[in-house]
Amino acid sequence: MSVAPFANYRSAATKPSRSPPPATLGVATAPQGRGIARVLHALALLVYVGGAAAEDIQSPLGLPPVPAKVAGTPAMRRLGEKLFFDRSLSANGTLSCAMCHIPAQGFASNQSALSIGMEGRSLRRNAPSLYNVAFKKFLFHDGREPDLAAQVWGPLLAADEMGNAGIGPLVARLRADADYGPSFEASFPGEGATMMTLGRAIAAYEAALLRGGGRFDRAVYGGERAALTPQEWKGYELFTGKAGCAACHAIGAETALFTDQSWHNTGVAFRSGATGGKRLVQLAPGVLQHVDLAAVGLAQTGAPNDVGRFEITNAPTDRWAYTTPMLRGVSESAPYMHDGSLRTLAEVIEFYDRGGGANPSLDPKIRPLELTPDEKAAIVAFLEAL
Ligand code: HEC
Ligand code: HEC
Repeated sequence: MSVAPFANYRSAATKPSRSPPPATLGVATAPQGRGIARVLHALALLVYVGGAAAEDIQSPLGLPPVPAKVAGTPAMRRLGEKLFFDRSLSANGTLSCAMCHIPAQGFASNQSALSIGMEGRSLRRNAPSLYNVAFKKFLFHDGREPDLAAQVWGPLLAADEMGNAGIGPLVARLRADADYGPSFEASFPGEGATMMTLGRAIAAYEAALLRGGGRFDRAVYGGERAALTPQEWKGYELFTGKAGCAACHAIGAETALFTDQSWHNTGVAFRSGATGGKRLVQLAPGVLQHVDLAAVGLAQTGAPNDVGRFEITNAPTDRWAYTTPMLRGVSESAPYMHDGSLRTLAEVIEFYDRGGGANPSLDPKIRPLELTPDEKAAIVAFLEAL
């Protein structure tokens, strides 16, 4: 376990009542009783994910109910939390999920544009935030994985991430472990630790990382107009109006996930991972250092080419297309975009204002916006309120 470096993280999944959760991140343990609205949410979600809502997770204002399929039980969530922070899940005991998805950094990584994996190898993409990931229909920047429990095996097995050589040895070790063996058996009676239950436990923990009920939600869904400042309201009007952001970062009538569950080519430029012969290497959780590439013989020398969704479908229209990220808590998870190439929200707005990155298959919704400096500042203020 490597919980210590993340001491400021309040585990909403295990301590719902003792410490009040931060304004916008919360998981409760009682079913929510908002009458007709709740029924409507449930019906909408039934169509949306084709499954029932979790009984014991209360979604905060502005979020739909969590699908029971991913939410699991409180015991699974506790087990999943332990696994998420456990560096011994990686081949050489150095990397946990939480070292790239850092709780205090919006469950992403602020210090590096491209994730840093096993033995300093640089991945070609930025670690996305895990807030509200339970609702995401297509996971990864290219949307290649629809199942949160199955997703877990991606990083566990990738040679440049957690580097496990195979599924069997890791599962066998967990089954034999004096602590994990009985925990798995208690959470999944009759099954114990298996390839599937490992994924389901971690997915259950991730499904509880709900971000909602903040100032935006109180203002837009709770009728509390004063919860947003006039400048933030102006940003909201631009986001849903002139700037056209909500065409992709969708805001619904009852809830908002800020994604259309699809992918688009916004023209974020291809970016090489190598910078001046130096590479950021993670020496211990949160301890990063620039090291000469020559000194890390195993590291790659540049990010491999990335053509996004095209790699999955081979459809020319999917070239350079990436999934639309959910923007809740976005002020915490800089840098931005699949390659971490934009450092601040102000840079993101400049990027959109220019009309994105010109290329032959740019999404037609991306166009020069001609925003004034005041308008740009208002959109940034709005994003910071999410
Ligand atoms: C070395 C850094 C690193 C580690 C370790 C890591 N991840 Fe990730 N994670 C990433 C990156 C980078 C991506 C995006 C990859 C892509 O899109 O191809 C990602 C994507 C994801 C996604 C998809 C999110 C979305 O919005 O689509 C989930 C879920 C996730 N990781 C969970 C985990 C879990 C669970 C673990 C531990 C078993 C883990 N990650 C370990 C870097 C990491
Ligand atoms: C055509 C659909 C579309 C429109 C319109 C759009 N976005 Fe995006 N947005 C995306 C996609 C797709 C990405 C991810 C691109 C990538 O990873 O390379 C993204 C990424 C972002 C990010 C980075 C999030 C992160 O976690 O890295 C922010 C912030 C953002 N958009 C805000 C906005 C704002 C503000 C507007 C309006 C000015 C807007 N978007 C308009 C599709 C869109």
